[in-house]
Amino acid sequence: MEAKYLNYNNKKFDFSSFFKNNQSVKNISHYIAKFPKDIIKKKIKVVKEDKKFIRTYKNFIKTEIQKLFKYEIVFQKLPNIRVLYPNDIEAVVPYHCDKWYNHSNDEINFWLPLHQVSSTESMQIVNLNKSIELEKKILNEKFSYNKINKLISKYAKPVKCDFGKILKFSPLHLHGNVINRTKFPRISIDFRVKKLNSKFRSKTLGGYFDVIKK
Ligand SMILES: [Fe+2]
Repeated sequence: MEAKYLNYNNKKFDFSSFFKNNQSVKNISHYIAKFPKDIIKKKIKVVKEDKKFIRTYKNFIKTEIQKLFKYEIVFQKLPNIRVLYPNDIEAVVPYHCDKWYNHSNDEINFWLPLHQVSSTESMQIVNLNKSIELEKKILNEKFSYNKINKLISKYAKPVKCDFGKILKFSPLHLHGNVINRTKFPRISIDFRVKKLNSKFRSKTLGGYFDVIKK
């Protein structure tokens, strides 16, 4: 499955609104930049437990994501909410594909930035063919972590998308972060879905995944 940008209704599903105290705020990235990191960390925890946020997320899956599939899907119970601050070396996620981290090949990943992204603040991704080719090389030649990262970084490109778009990609796509060299933090949501009628291993149905309520 090639990576694909999809549109969604960002008026109806405005996830950025949960992070603002004032709805006249236009740019969520510029807005969260005004607060200390620990305040934003707490805010994320509050949002993840906010019933309205959970309802909006479930409704989003039901209306915007399920329609992309011919079969019934299950979805990651709670999405991940991540912030990548400028010049934060520790926040850098080394290049990997999710397959290396207990995710099965038949999961589908979604990455939804809450504002426009285009460079070092964005997620970096390698196209599918190159990802598969590089993974083979990495496994065959038993690369060290450092070497893996160096090799993949040559081919990774930033996800470029506007607010209102979501990236769909596979557990085989190599991806990661680099140091955010922009002036502003990036905030994004990510989650995975999978076919209801499929095998569940360590990421169980009822635990990690949930069914869409009709
Ligand atoms: Fe990942």
